[in-house]
Amino acid sequence: MAKAIVVYRSHSGVTRRYGEAIAAYLDSKGMAAQVVSVGECDMATLAGADYLLLGCWTSGLFVVRQHPDEPWLAFVRDMPALTGPRPRVALFTTYKLRTGSQFPMMRAALAGKTAAPQLELKSRDGRLSSADEAALEQFLS
Ligand SMILES: Cc1cc2nc3c(=O)[nH]c(=O)nc-3n(C[C@H](O)[C@H](O)[C@H](O)COP(=O)(O)O)c2cc1C
Repeated sequence: MAKAIVVYRSHSGVTRRYGEAIAAYLDSKGMAAQVVSVGECDMATLAGADYLLLGCWTSGLFVVRQHPDEPWLAFVRDMPALTGPRPRVALFTTYKLRTGSQFPMMRAALAGKTAAPQLELKSRDGRLSSADEAALEQFLS
C-alpha cells in the first residue's frame, strides 16, 4: 500500500481541516495517509513516504507579501533532504483573499530539500472541492 504523509501548519484550524480532508480523500483511494502538524511530525517517517503533502496557512498583508509562517519554514529547514524520485511532493494552503507569493515562497524554501512540487492546492474554507479531488487523482497517477 502506498504511503502518504500530510504535514500541515495551521494557525486557527482551517489548514488542519484541509489537510485532514486531503488525507481522507487519499485513504478513499486506497492509500495509507497519515496527517500530522509540523510540530508532531517525526522526521524519520518522511523518507518512507511515497507522497508528501505540505501545507501552511497564508500569512501576509492580504494583497501582497504572502508567505508561509516561521514554524513551517523551521520545519522545512529541519527536514532531511528527500531528493530521490520518492516522495512526490504537493503543496497546499488556505487563505482569505490572495495567495500571491505563498506558493513561490514555499517552493523556494523547499529547493534542494525535495523534488519540485507537482501540485498546488488552495482553499478558502478548508473543504476539498471536486476540482481538488481531480487534481489529487492526477497527482497519484
Ligand atoms: C496575520 C494574518 C495574515 C493573513 N494574511 C493573509 C494574506 O496575505 N492573504 C490571504 O488571502 N489571507 C490571509 N490571511 C487569512 C488566512 O490565511 C486564512 O484565514 C487561513 O485560512 C488561516 O488558516 P488557519 O486556520 O489554518 O490558520 C491572514 C490571516 C492572518 C491572521
